[in-house]
Amino acid sequence: MKAVLTACILVGACSDPTGGSTEGPVLFAKLCTQCHGATGKPSDSMAQSLKVRDLTDPAVRATLTQARVKEQILQGSATKTMPSFQGLVTDAQADALAAWVVSEQFLAPPAAPASERK
Ligand code: HEC
Repeated sequence: MKAVLTACILVGACSDPTGGSTEGPVLFAKLCTQCHGATGKPSDSMAQSLKVRDLTDPAVRATLTQARVKEQILQGSATKTMPSFQGLVTDAQADALAAWVVSEQFLAPPAAPASERK
């Protein structure tokens, strides 16, 4: 049992991929960076292959509202290149993520919050 728990913690891939967090930066790191990059700027290959939008681009940010981002998280993109996170995140988690993405701090992310648990 202990071994299972340890493996679970090390891999960070238990049944809930969000780890139960309601902190925007933590959730973004867990769910979004694989495509959008750690800072919101996708890698060249992601930008080219999936046409991942650069969340640090002022032109993109100008179109984003918290409601728009939440909708994108819950619906996915129209093309479905970005999957829907409906059912994976709670409403509160979607709110936290959307608030984080549109916040000023998103462009200059602080170090991982102390409350982040692996
Ligand atoms: C599988 C790759 C993938 C993952 C994971 C992913 N995205 Fe995306 N995202 C995309 C792609 C591709 C687009 C551009 C598609 C589009 O909207 O035309 C996009 C676009 C967006 C946009 C722009 C929407 C707009 O109106 O232009 C936002 C905001 C966004 N993603 C937020 C997130 C958040 C927050 C997460 C984590 C919960 C996330 N994404 C996870 C691939 C991904």
